[in-house]
Amino acid sequence: MQPHIVFDDASWTLQLLDQRRLPQESIWITCNTVAQLVDAIQTMVVRGAPAIGVAAAYGCALACRQVASQDHWRTSLKPLLETLAAARPTAVNLRWAVERVAQAVATAPNPHTAAALALAEARTIHEEDIGMCQAMGHFGAALLPDSCTVLTHCNAGALATGGYGTALGVIRAAVAMGKQVRVLADETRPLWQGARLTAYELACDGIPVEVLCEGAAASLMARGEVQAVIVGADRIAANGDTANKIGTLGIAVLAHHFGIPFYVAAPSSTFDLATASGAAIPIEERDAKEVTCPCSTAIVPQGVGARNPAFDVTPAGLLTAIITERGVLYPPLEEAITAVLGGRP
Ligand code: MRU
Repeated sequence: MQPHIVFDDASWTLQLLDQRRLPQESIWITCNTVAQLVDAIQTMVVRGAPAIGVAAAYGCALACRQVASQDHWRTSLKPLLETLAAARPTAVNLRWAVERVAQAVATAPNPHTAAALALAEARTIHEEDIGMCQAMGHFGAALLPDSCTVLTHCNAGALATGGYGTALGVIRAAVAMGKQVRVLADETRPLWQGARLTAYELACDGIPVEVLCEGAAASLMARGEVQAVIVGADRIAANGDTANKIGTLGIAVLAHHFGIPFYVAAPSSTFDLATASGAAIPIEERDAKEVTCPCSTAIVPQGVGARNPAFDVTPAGLLTAIITERGVLYPPLEEAITAVLGGRP
């Protein structure tokens, strides 16, 4: 996959491949300001926990330039960074990235230096994210049988990260090792990240993929057609409870019922050790129109509403293991997380 988040220093703009238009069209959106980037994050031009963290890190560089002409630039910078960090509530990578860049510019003597430092830190975060995905791929690939069908939910691929992917990174690495991996991609309503983005990425790489309509997983699992499930994560609490795209919990319950390994692949930036359990993870509730009016076509009778929670929480007890860039964590997960990530970044 080509890069989908690109910062252009010459024009000091952030270029984002518009994921809402994929796979039909490759259209790029330009962000000059924090407000434009917040809108791009909220409307899912860029989405996926690590990817919105990377984009927001570059957004901090935009923010520094925006306040450059102001006398009290540091005072003006603070609310801009807070707006960025709060653009979506569930993926912890977003706030993590903004706080990391804020720290990097904390002692800058002027806004121009702050902007340069912010850009350098954003580039480091971006490169590190790709490196973490590759390391997860290395650890996760070893867990898969030589020939298998893997089910995944949503898109946890290159498009959802700085590049390479978490769950799809594991699949890419397994294929690179010579394993025969076929993928079943849940379509992932209401925004079709599986049908549109996971299928697109894997097809581009020549990895066999078929899309499943929502609800088909149980019957294929019952027939023995799935050997493993791998998903990404938006936030993992200290006890291992994992927030991910709505529908993940149902897949985890099914995997448990049918005795199929259920893996979460996530970098250390997705762990939130300050949150004790999944009960405290904020869950984004999005516009009901995404459910009632998919692809701009009204399918629900007028006057009937919809619920649209964007994420659910899978209890740690349903996870076989968490694949991180530092190794594979096995239950008891709370102890494993503290041991491996206790002093994290
Ligand atoms: O609403 P989205 O598309 O941003 O949700 C994305 C997911 O739930 C992904 O599975 C998660 O961010 C992991 S991405 C490596």
